[in-house]
Amino acid sequence: MVVDMTTASFFLLALLHILTGIDGQHHHNNANMPAPSFGSTMENITVINGRDASFTCVVLNIGPHRVAWIKADDKGILAMHDRVLTNNARLSVMHSDLHTWTLHIRDVHRSDRGVYMCQINSDPMLSQTASLEVVVPPDILNEEGGGEVLIPEGGMARLSCKAKGFPQPRVTWRREDGQDIVIRSGALQKQKVPIFEGEVLTFHKITRSEMGAYLCIASNNVPPSVSRRIVVNVHFYPIIQVHNQLVGGPLGSNITLDCMVEASPKPINYWARESGEIIIPNDKYRMEEFDVNTYTTRLRLHLKLSSNADEGGYKCCSKNSIGDSEGTITVYATKRVEEEKSLGRWSDHDEEGGAEEPDSVDDSDNTSLEVTTTHFTLGRVTPPAGPSSRRANNNNIQSPTQNKMSIIRSSGSIAQTAVRPQSYYLVAIIYFFSLIVTLL
Ligand SMILES: *[C@@H]1O[C@H](CO)[C@@H](O)[C@H](O)[C@H]1NC(C)=O
Ligand SMILES: *[C@@H]1O[C@H](CO)[C@@H](O)[C@H](O)[C@H]1NC(C)=O
Ligand SMILES: *[C@@H]1O[C@H](CO)[C@@H](O)[C@H](O)[C@H]1NC(C)=O
Repeated sequence: MVVDMTTASFFLLALLHILTGIDGQHHHNNANMPAPSFGSTMENITVINGRDASFTCVVLNIGPHRVAWIKADDKGILAMHDRVLTNNARLSVMHSDLHTWTLHIRDVHRSDRGVYMCQINSDPMLSQTASLEVVVPPDILNEEGGGEVLIPEGGMARLSCKAKGFPQPRVTWRREDGQDIVIRSGALQKQKVPIFEGEVLTFHKITRSEMGAYLCIASNNVPPSVSRRIVVNVHFYPIIQVHNQLVGGPLGSNITLDCMVEASPKPINYWARESGEIIIPNDKYRMEEFDVNTYTTRLRLHLKLSSNADEGGYKCCSKNSIGDSEGTITVYATKRVEEEKSLGRWSDHDEEGGAEEPDSVDDSDNTSLEVTTTHFTLGRVTPPAGPSSRRANNNNIQSPTQNKMSIIRSSGSIAQTAVRPQSYYLVAIIYFFSLIVTLL
């Protein structure tokens, strides 16, 4: 308290001393000196909060007079000549050459804005003014808490982004993925915009496609702009789509079952047999999951069709905190690939040749085929004999398809046998007649 009083009285005395001193000099020298004037106009200043600002006042013919800096709004005297007269530690004054006086404000605050006056205590008094504007970069008020909202599908949501700054920032919204924002103004009216302006973004009856990250951006042309990211999670129970509900393949082949799942929050997906038995990955089964977008997943089950037991219903199942769902695919098997090949070729070595070495079977088949046909042909003409006909009989018992084929073959052979003996007789007769003709 004592110190304060002392300081205050010191400043008061000093001020009085300066003022009287100037006054005295003024009266003494007035007659000889040209009148003071300003060398230039003071420039208005706009400065970003926290930066420094300086007003420069150029005075010609100052003579014995003094320059004072005054805040025009509240008439407070800031500085006189080379002394600062307020207790604002961020202010300083400089008198750099004969003509230039500078008022320097360090770390400008918003409260520093206003009109500043450079005044010369001549008679009449001279002054010029300039204003200081302090702009503030935008800031987003974090009143909403976390940057994530959860809304059930069809529900309503309001995203709010309040910003401060000077000038008042403009708030815009856009989607992080660049998609349009859907604005529903009425029950039926909706509009798609890449950028929405306003502090509050409202979703009426939100849909899953509106799920994603939204950015609110506040800007007022004072750098830097700021943004805030809000993730909108729309919750709904899983929905499964099966495009191919019937999938088949030959026994021994691999087939792939496909399901598309839409769910949010992220579901747990698995495959099961129709009986409910859950399928686990092993030599026979392999599963894959691909994310199509934030809420869509493609499920794949690769499965080896090893026996008819693998036929039947398969279920892709999806479960999240909202609910669960499943899709069914029916699997059927056709005949083994090797079997189909052999059936198409008519082999009579099926039981002994086997499918293990198809090449060797081919060789023996070609020969045996010829042999069998020949023997069969002869068999029809002459009484049946030899191992080939027995084999043909075996085949008849073995497979109905082969039986049918051998019948076709044999009818072909019958046609041949019908022609061949006739031609032999013809040759014999011609030979016989030519012999007679020769003899005659
Ligand atoms: C400074 O701003 C004021 C208004 O605030 C204006 O009247 C004046 O002309 C400006 N001065 C200069 C030098 O731009
Ligand atoms: C079938 O899938 C299994 C496992 O994925 C693989 O080892 C096997 O080679 C596949 N077989 C065929 C015929 O593609
Ligand atoms: C078997 O027959 C096929 C065509 O029917 C032929 O290309 C192949 O050369 C034959 N093999 C033998 C060993 O005769």
